[in-house]
Amino acid sequence: MKSEPLLSPLIIAIDGPSASGKGTVARKLAAHFGFAHLDTGLLYRAAGTMARAAGVAAEEDAALTAFAEKLDMNALIARLDDPALRGDEAAKLASWVAPNQAVRSALLKFQRDFCAAPPEGKAGAVLDGRDIGTVIAPDAKVKIFITASAEARAQRRFKELQERGQKASYDAVLADMKARDARDAQRVLAPTKPASDAVMLDTTDLDAEQAFAEAVRIAEAKRMLCQP
Ligand code: DC
Repeated sequence: MKSEPLLSPLIIAIDGPSASGKGTVARKLAAHFGFAHLDTGLLYRAAGTMARAAGVAAEEDAALTAFAEKLDMNALIARLDDPALRGDEAAKLASWVAPNQAVRSALLKFQRDFCAAPPEGKAGAVLDGRDIGTVIAPDAKVKIFITASAEARAQRRFKELQERGQKASYDAVLADMKARDARDAQRVLAPTKPASDAVMLDTTDLDAEQAFAEAVRIAEAKRMLCQP
């Protein structure tokens, strides 16, 4: 007989716009608590890249839906470590496919399964994205919505591009950031918005270590409140 775990995994949901620092905070929190980590943006990046490779054109919504309904999740999972997924092209493709209902449905089960049974038998999972606290894991014990001003986020992104030796102008990065925010926040399905029970964490004036320390404080306080 299969034995059921005594305690269900503890889920930490981290949401927020791009370059808010949520990815770094999520990764560090997972390491701190010994939990599994899933960057859900990578799923959309991989789905977008695969749709484009399959020849789906940007304006073909029906073709994208048909593609998503047959999406090979094993193939998608196999490419999550591809460094190209972290680039700007993959980000654009992700923001193209993310509003599509069939794409979101195709990715939902994997994310829910990750929460129900984190890899390697870990006692919990940290997921970061846009709709973790609202759609993927509405029962998560800890929910943090990480924000920062568009200017601060553009500055971080600009610095990152410069460090990678890529040509960029701060103004162009800021304009792109604002356009992407508007698309993600205004879309009908799973827009970027805090769950009603999320704790807000503004990282505009915080460095990565300070943001992480604050997130640990929030998570510890919530976990304390949630003890059975
Ligand atoms: O966080 P990121 O930059 O890797 O996200 C890429 C795109 O995917 C972005 O346009 C928002 C979208 N996304 C989403 O709709 N839902 C998620 N849970 C994660 C990302």
